[in-house]
Amino acid sequence: MKFFIDTANLDEIRKAMDWGVLDGVTTNPTLLGKEVEKTHRKPNDILKDICELVPGSVSAEGISLDTDGIVKEGEELAKIHPNICIKVPMTPEGVKAIRILRSKGIKVNTTLVFSCNQALIAAKAGTNYISPFIGRLDDIGQNGMELISEIIIMLENYDFDTEVLVASVRHPLHVVEATQLGADICTIPFKVLNLMFKHPLTDKGIKSFLKDWERAKEFMPR
Ligand code: G3P
Repeated sequence: MKFFIDTANLDEIRKAMDWGVLDGVTTNPTLLGKEVEKTHRKPNDILKDICELVPGSVSAEGISLDTDGIVKEGEELAKIHPNICIKVPMTPEGVKAIRILRSKGIKVNTTLVFSCNQALIAAKAGTNYISPFIGRLDDIGQNGMELISEIIIMLENYDFDTEVLVASVRHPLHVVEATQLGADICTIPFKVLNLMFKHPLTDKGIKSFLKDWERAKEFMPR
């Protein structure tokens, strides 16, 4: 499974890079907007820094809703770096934009996917990634992980060359469940990535190993 980080915060991305487990980054207008608010920097400058930090796919999203606008914004964003992948919303106008962007050699991540039918349309249009937002489905009492399972079966049945990018991940169990289903990618918020390291028995084990070694030192020949 590939790990993407779901943030536009450079410190978080740097930390995850240092761990050596990061394959890519996803952003959206909310995440990038937060960083603009904090740093007063231009959004494209932040995206450029992200691309220079991470040697993998970096999803960037515009705000246009009409096909021409989505394509125009996508082309501008794609100029920032070859690793930029354009997030396109799962709408009829967005689907038209997927084909156009793909024909220009620009990678596409179809976002805000909440049903298998939407995923099927995006795959047929030639998207590179499908991003089902599982946490937001859980929030309204639907099982987000069931959607991941349906989409994986659908893509396998028809041999689509599209990767499932599990998005709106809220806790470590979401990641475990995504691995059980064989999802290609999980985009994980920094907080969740941190939680994935933790287990109280690991901390307890380290503490007792160090304590026992300290005691043994008293008996070591000098
Ligand atoms: O990658 C999609 C993600 O940013 C949405 O997550 O937590 O806002 O539903 P969330």
